[in-house]
Amino acid sequence: MKEVIYVENFVYEYPTKVCFGRGAARQHLTGLLAACGPNVLLAYGGGSIKKNGVYEEITGILKEAGKSITEFTGIMSNPTWAKVKEGAGLARENKVDLVLAVGGGSVIDCCKIVCAQAVTDEELWELEMVQHKAPSAAPIPLGAVVTASGTGAEMNGGAVITNEETKIKGGMFAAAPRFAILDPAYTMSLPRMQVLSGAFDTLSHAMETYFGRSDRDNVSDEVALAVMHSTVVNMRALLKDLNDYTARSNLMWASAMAENGILKVGRVTDFECHQMEHQLGAYTDCNHGQGLAVLHPAYYRHIVKDAPEKFARLGKAVFGVEGAEAAVDALAAFIQECGLPVRLSQLKSRVEITPELLRQVADSINLLPNGPRQLTRGEVYIILMECM
Ligand code: NZQ
Ligand code: ZN
Repeated sequence: MKEVIYVENFVYEYPTKVCFGRGAARQHLTGLLAACGPNVLLAYGGGSIKKNGVYEEITGILKEAGKSITEFTGIMSNPTWAKVKEGAGLARENKVDLVLAVGGGSVIDCCKIVCAQAVTDEELWELEMVQHKAPSAAPIPLGAVVTASGTGAEMNGGAVITNEETKIKGGMFAAAPRFAILDPAYTMSLPRMQVLSGAFDTLSHAMETYFGRSDRDNVSDEVALAVMHSTVVNMRALLKDLNDYTARSNLMWASAMAENGILKVGRVTDFECHQMEHQLGAYTDCNHGQGLAVLHPAYYRHIVKDAPEKFARLGKAVFGVEGAEAAVDALAAFIQECGLPVRLSQLKSRVEITPELLRQVADSINLLPNGPRQLTRGEVYIILMECM
């Protein structure tokens, strides 16, 4: 008899201790630091933490705990391989015992690979991206203080790094944070567009997981639909009041939930839209969540007939509409309602987005086999062109 697999086999283990809520750093960071040695690499981005008081609070706690601080600053959105190497050099020179990443997905991702690169002479880009091998040495411990939610980077071991020379933005695997501080108050200074694009990234993660395999009777699907619904409800709350603390809190936890492995238990994920966005990002340096907002409806219009029941179920559970095509229409309308970009020309790009550039994007993306239907490069190009 043919076996019908409804749930893939899995092993679930959880490496990150999460401290959530207002005042979480003041309440928990000192205790968490006690388990680490004296030298801390304090990593952050372009300086938002100096304007909103987070820098002052975190450095105060580090100093009270008697830590010696080395700063690793200027981590850019869409962090580069060159920046990883800079951080690894600093960590090594200063014999760092803990890397503390204070920021959004970009800072946390960069630091994940810094922690692994600092302990080996082997170049991890070559090892992971070319030889497809995992690093063997134990990374420097990593802690994350989240200031921008959406990616869920604080609760997994994956990192997305851009190699500017090869024009590849790719997923690498290294250090999952040992602990994560999630204080929604730290996100209150985020600009409106980053709040919404981060939250859309969360919605995308849940959808990309849901549209993988297997197709039926999977408890993870039920949880994914709940995360999607909650994300939409709380994004709508922020459209009314951007400073709604409860909505920010819910979105911060939804962000972590979508990427902490819970939704992926028993599933193989799709993530083809992410593959498209990452390569678009490699060429344009566009904002991740905004790139996804442009691409998702076009991608889903191409695959809606390959998974009509799943689309219809999502439409009903998340947007309260009937039918598969109506689900895609509702998603597109929601993106517009949020004021997120709907065309590639609306993305902030460092170069002009031309058909030739989109051809290069299509020719360099990973084609994954786990969505409702595997795309061809030709179809990816058509999807990208439809977004012009
Ligand atoms: O650099 P600073 O000055 O901190 O400014 C940042 C940046 O300009 C700002 N910001 C962050 N916290 C703030 C704040 N501004 C005011 N107040 C605050 N509290 O926000 C801007 C965007 O930050 P960034 O970290 O780039 O955004 P996000 O969290 O969306 O991260 C995007 C990166 O994560 C990757 C993306 O590809 C992209 O490179 N992803 C990582 C994933 C993972 N590791 O699991 C999964 C995702 O799918 C994604 O690919
Ligand atoms: Zn994402």
